[in-house]
Amino acid sequence: IYRSTSSTTLPSFLLVGPSGAGKTALLTLFERGQHVETRTSQVPISVEVSLPVSTNAASLKYRSVNDPSNQVHKKFLLADTPGHGKLRHYAFDGVIKPQNLKGIIFMVDAADISMGNSGSGNEALRQAAEYLHDILLLLQKRSTSSKTSKAPKELPVLIAANKLDLFTALPAPLVRTALESEISNVRSSKTKGLLDSGIGMNDLDIGEEKEWLGDGGDGKFEFSQMDEVNVAVSVAGGNVLGADGQDDHSNTSPAPQR
Ligand code: GTP
Ligand code: MG
Repeated sequence: IYRSTSSTTLPSFLLVGPSGAGKTALLTLFERGQHVETRTSQVPISVEVSLPVSTNAASLKYRSVNDPSNQVHKKFLLADTPGHGKLRHYAFDGVIKPQNLKGIIFMVDAADISMGNSGSGNEALRQAAEYLHDILLLLQKRSTSSKTSKAPKELPVLIAANKLDLFTALPAPLVRTALESEISNVRSSKTKGLLDSGIGMNDLDIGEEKEWLGDGGDGKFEFSQMDEVNVAVSVAGGNVLGADGQDDHSNTSPAPQR
């Protein structure tokens, strides 16, 4: 299944997000340096890619410019997962069993999210928010289920608002607020669903309960609430394809940079 099984100790980044977001397009761009038309993924694919010599990882910024390690390609693994609702266990597995996981990229189609704002609500936004909610909840559980009181290792999550070459796409700051408010809805409707199913309020124990994402309050969910469990969420916009059909990935962050 995995195209590259060799070096599991390489730093790795996990690509997740709804179907059609452009995850495999980004992976093939990294792998081949050009855009190749993709099909919906049914299995995860992991490839070894490297940053150009000229690009320095943020973690190396304190090294001397003459450091010989600057002269080699910085290799890492990029793991692509299928976005289809029935195949998300691959992504969840990738989150739960981190080998040398350095960051998670949650990619969304910013043009898809912006559509259907009128009328019956935005199904694409709801699905993206539900998926992101589940990923973040898994990450939150890393700390609530840990036996020591020590906070878990920091893990950045980059929300990549893709397809900004399309004029219908929502700009990254609006993708952020749209997802935050829709996750608020997901959070309360999940809780309501549990209550309706006969679970008592006491059993639920909201606030400390592991099923409740973010802080205990019933206000709005904000990504900053993930800081407490050492998950730093940032949002960046970009596009894998250029509007003119040329490859233009200058806007797409290859990896979370902090
Ligand atoms: P699943 O494998 O089903 O989870 O989807 P995916 O996230 O891997 O999507 P994929 O990479 O296959 O891309 C879906 C479609 O979006 C393809 O037709 C891509 O060419 C297109 N696409 C990807 N990135 C961009 C972009 O930046 N702009 C535009 N306009 N189209 C894009
Ligand atoms: Mg794919």
